[in-house]
Parts: sequence; structure tokens; C-alpha cells
Amino acid sequence: MSDLQRFDRVRAVRYDGEHLQLLDQRRLPATQTWLRCTGAADTAQAITDLVVRGAPAIGIAAAYGAALAARARLAESTDPAQFSSGWAADLALLQAARPTAVNLAWALQRVAAVCAGLDPQQTAACSLAEAEAIAAEDVAANYRMAELGAAFLAPGCGVLTHCNTGSLATGGLGTALGVVRAGVAACRVSAVYAAETRPWLQGSRLTLWELLEDGIDARLIADGAGAWLFASGRAQWLIVGADRVCANGDAANKIGTLAHAVAARHFGARVMVVAPWSTVDLATAEGAQIEIEERAGEELLAVAGQRIAAPGGQAWNPVFDVTPAGLIDVLVTERGALEKPDVAGIARLAAQAD
Ligand code: MRU
Repeated sequence: MSDLQRFDRVRAVRYDGEHLQLLDQRRLPATQTWLRCTGAADTAQAITDLVVRGAPAIGIAAAYGAALAARARLAESTDPAQFSSGWAADLALLQAARPTAVNLAWALQRVAAVCAGLDPQQTAACSLAEAEAIAAEDVAANYRMAELGAAFLAPGCGVLTHCNTGSLATGGLGTALGVVRAGVAACRVSAVYAAETRPWLQGSRLTLWELLEDGIDARLIADGAGAWLFASGRAQWLIVGADRVCANGDAANKIGTLAHAVAARHFGARVMVVAPWSTVDLATAEGAQIEIEERAGEELLAVAGQRIAAPGGQAWNPVFDVTPAGLIDVLVTERGALEKPDVAGIARLAAQAD
């Protein structure tokens, strides 16, 4: 087992031969419970409710949801017209579960495309095979990105990461956290900082849990401490994932990423965005066109279900922001790493594998 493989143990999205099993991320790290999904409706609800989260993991779960839905529709009717209108409604339901991470639409389009023109029986079989392929390819992409990203890190560097981009958010090793893991395995990273990621606390609940399970020494910081971390010289890199990378390199990621990136640039630290090609959306020209999910204000006003904010107060809760390409020093995808990503660089990567 390589040094990196020892950090790749958790699979949060699993198909058990019958159902989709999701490690319930709302309950981590306190308890490890699994939610069983049987079709489109419960899979879509699990995505909306953040049982499963993180752009690649959402895509994988949606693909399995589409396959479960195809099987359920087949059990109802083998009539092709009835099957395909029912399955189209299932795909639309899954698609509407969350708006910002493009991996969701990408995975569903991929499943639909491979099944185009097939009969109901073939659709049920092929959609499942495609979901399995999407999951396996994501794991392979993570390893490649980990290797490419870690090569940029100078020995002894400190790293800040935001949100959770590890095994819980992907098919396996992780995107940004995969690079951090590879950097630690190669003895290049000497300090790892995780921002807590209000309001849902992906950093403190999930990233810190993953790193501690790995035996990687990590420190939690308040989201507002990022600028001071860079100013104090403790971190030379901000390494984050993305939910959608536009054709010009602008990258949507968890709210708070933009503030860290501005601070990193100001204090001379570098910014690395790590995302599989499934997160690159060539149809979206620039960040201003991305739909930013806004969730219930209750998520901000309460902590662990307990109202904390002043009674009567309201909240605005956008859960993603967009870091302009100009603030990104390196974009890492499995197709290659781009320094100073821009339209031409992304087009070069796009052309590479087509
Ligand atoms: O709301 P979430 O938890 O789904 O947001 C997740 C993120 O913003 C991650 O940073 C992003 O999906 C990259 S994960 C590999």
C-alpha cells in the first residue's frame, strides 16, 4: 500500500447491490449511520438535506439515484413510452435537488446519454453500469489530482483548506484534501489548518474528522481567522475544491472561500483550486452566471438546532461564493494543472482528451 492509499479508506456513497447507502453526514462525527435510498425521490431528498454533499459525491449519488429510478420504473411498466416519461420525471427531480454543483447535472446527463435509444431493460442495466463507472473514475481522478497538486508544494509549507473536500465529498481520496494528503505523505506539508465553515461546519465536523482518522495533525481555525493565518506566515497555500469551474476559470466553492482567497493574495500566499473535469462547466462563461444556492436562514440563526441569534433576527444564507480566476494561482484537474487559469488554458485542457 502506498503512503497515499493509507489515507483512502472511507467510501461515503455505496451501492450494495440493491440500494444506495449514504453515510449520513448530518450526524458526523458524533455517529456513523447509513441512510438507504431506494429511488429518485429519497435520493433527491438526501442530496437536498445534505445527507450526501460535496460536488463529486452529489454527482455519484444522483447517478445511482437515476439507476434505482430506472429499475423502479421498469418494475411498474415495460411499455417504452410510459417508462421514458416516468424516468424523465425522475431525472428532473434529481436535477432539482441542488443548483450550484455542476457535477449533479453532468452525471445525470451522462447517464441519460448512455441510455438514449435503449429499451427499458437495457436502460436499467446501463444506467447502473454508468453510475459505477462515474464512481470509479472519480476515485482515479482524485489520485491523479493529488499527485499533480502536491508537486507544487514546497517542503515545510503550511496549508489552509475550507469546507470538506475529502472522502466524504467525493468517490474516494478527495480533491483539495487529496492534495493535502499527498503533500503530507510526501513530507512537503508541515502544518494543516481547516476553517470551520459556518454555518454547516463541514470543516470542523467533517474535515477535522477525516484528518484525525488519518493521523494527520491538523488545527481548526474560525473562518474569520484565515486572513490572520496568512498574515502571520503560518500558511503559504490556500487549497480548496470547487462546485463549478467556468470556462474562464472562475470557481464557485463553499461560502468563505472568496474571503480566504483575497486574504491569501494580499499576504503573498498562493491559491490552488482542485476539481475533477466533471466540475468544469464549459457552458458557463463566467462566475456571474452561476446560480448560487441560498439555504434557509435557520441554518445560520441556530447552532445544532438551538436558536442562538437574537429573537426576531433574520439571516441571508448564500452557501457558495465565486473566486475570480484572477485570484487562482493553480487549477488542478485530472487532465492537468493550469497556472493562472484562463479561457485559453481551460480550452486547451478541454481539447486534450476529446
Ligand atoms: O454544501 P456542500 O457541503 O455540498 O459544499 C461542498 C463544497 O463547497 C466543496 O468544497 C466542493 O463541493 C468541493 S468537494 C470536492
